Amino acid sequence: MTTPVPPLPIRPVHPDDDAEVDRVYDVCLRTGASGADATDQFADPRLLGEVYAGPYLRFAPDLAFVLDGGPTAGVVGYVLGAADTAAFENELERSWWPGLRRRYPRGTFPEGSPDEGVVGLIHEPPRAAPELLADYPAHLHVDLLPEAQGGGNGRRLITTLLDALRSRGVAGVHLGVAADNVNAQGFYEHVGFRRVDVPGVVYGLRLT
Ligand SMILES: CC(C)(COP(=O)(O)OP(=O)(O)OC[C@H]1O[C@@H](n2cnc3c(N)ncnc32)[C@H](O)[C@@H]1OP(=O)(O)O)[C@@H](O)C(=O)NCCC(=O)NCCS
Repeated sequence: MTTPVPPLPIRPVHPDDDAEVDRVYDVCLRTGASGADATDQFADPRLLGEVYAGPYLRFAPDLAFVLDGGPTAGVVGYVLGAADTAAFENELERSWWPGLRRRYPRGTFPEGSPDEGVVGLIHEPPRAAPELLADYPAHLHVDLLPEAQGGGNGRRLITTLLDALRSRGVAGVHLGVAADNVNAQGFYEHVGFRRVDVPGVVYGLRLT
């Protein structure tokens, strides 16, 4: 008879631990190509993390949870959220994007390269549509390394964030997903999210 392996622990991120922040950025890169490894696509390995992970660690660390793979593996997955997307976007405009715009001026990378595409997002970050935020003011990102996928960890991470949002009385949460990331789309639908009729592939879930 085999002894059941306990699930990996989920805990709040340690935003002041530089090694942990690096690890979160690494998970972001290694899941950044519509859920697959984007390492080979980017010249700058930190760029995706600066856009899709760093802001949450800095400005919403109480809604950032990691899946802890132990002392050797470290962080193997995360869920990152913002309770009030509009306020979060305003905060980034004040305190996050200006520094990155200085570090990554337009034209830092060759035109048409994936890196330069992300530089474009730094200079013109998309804003969530007001009609989306009326019902789904919060948003989230969830990413797991391949070795941590498929064993219920995604559901546990999402549930952890949804519980935290509900305990704050947040009305709803949305997320965007790449059109070709059909695995994530199937997952979101299975755990209760529904497509929202706005541009892009956007899912929402009412919480109250
Ligand atoms: C998408 C992702 C977060 C899902 O997490 P996961 O750990 O693989 O999924 P889980 O094992 O927790 O699955 C939870 C449930 O969803 C179901 N599910 C998972 N993927 C599914 C799919 N593609 N279609 C239908 N159901 C699916 C599981 O069967 C499970 O069902 P159950 O709880 O009723 O038994 C994870 O695969 C991942 O990080 N992928 C790479 C990065 C990525 O694409 N992130 C999303 C970017 S928008």
